[in-house]
Amino acid sequence: MLALPKHPQLRQELEPWTDQFDYTIRYVSKVLKDAEAGHDWHHVQRVYDNTLQILEQEALNQRLPQGSTALAVWGALLHDIADDKFHPEPNSSAKQGLENHLQELAFPEVMREEILFLIEWVSFKKSFDAKAGSEEEQAAHKIKALHILRDADRLDAIGAIGLARAFHYGGFKNRLFFDPSIPPTDYQNGEAYRKSTAPTINHFYEKLLLLKGKMYTPSGRELAEQRHGFLLAFLKQFYAEMGFQSPPPGFELKDVD
Ligand code: ADP
Ligand code: NI
Repeated sequence: MLALPKHPQLRQELEPWTDQFDYTIRYVSKVLKDAEAGHDWHHVQRVYDNTLQILEQEALNQRLPQGSTALAVWGALLHDIADDKFHPEPNSSAKQGLENHLQELAFPEVMREEILFLIEWVSFKKSFDAKAGSEEEQAAHKIKALHILRDADRLDAIGAIGLARAFHYGGFKNRLFFDPSIPPTDYQNGEAYRKSTAPTINHFYEKLLLLKGKMYTPSGRELAEQRHGFLLAFLKQFYAEMGFQSPPPGFELKDVD
């Protein structure tokens, strides 16, 4: 079972949607039953927990606009059920399932659109292509919810769990761990990023080690610092065990600590 919020603002904003909350949990846990272990129901639960933790802090510090809570919560619960990594077709049945589920919840039209906006823009791949539908033009509560959800999802990409997820995904895609002759790349767009078949260690440089500097909220930043340190320690140990005195050319850590 998922934890419920403590702060009165969060409770008050979620209270009208208690039935929908239970219904979405049942739906998502069923849809993601056999998903890849890095993007399954357990990932969703962790992202929900991170979201709640950040929401509590933002509410406590009076930085949470009214209307952000339900968006961030439904964003967390639904963000990976139609992930384009696993469902690349433009009108996949997963995407239709997501839209149908949102219809069934009978949220106000605006809220449904805002949740879909969050799900579309949460991903790291998207951040190559454009700013979130030019953020300045969007309502404050919607952008706040997006920032919280991004922090929550990205926290699950670093630290011990992030490490496990990266190597699990690499295995799922039959990738090498590491090849010193294939250095990390600076991708110019989301498509090139997604198409890469590089070894899993490269993903640390191409995404995971960059996340600490891209957090939006103070509590997200604090948690990211600690998890980032764990990734650096892992990489140093990895190179040492591979017989390198220091990270090989192209894999230096000086710009990422
Ligand atoms: P998003 O889905 O947010 O656009 P990613 O494509 O980076 O972002 O996927 C999310 C997670 O999937 C990553 O944090 C990582 O655990 C795993 N993943 C994605 N691409 C790779 C990769 N090339 N190597 C290892 N893990 C990956
Ligand atoms: Ni995710």
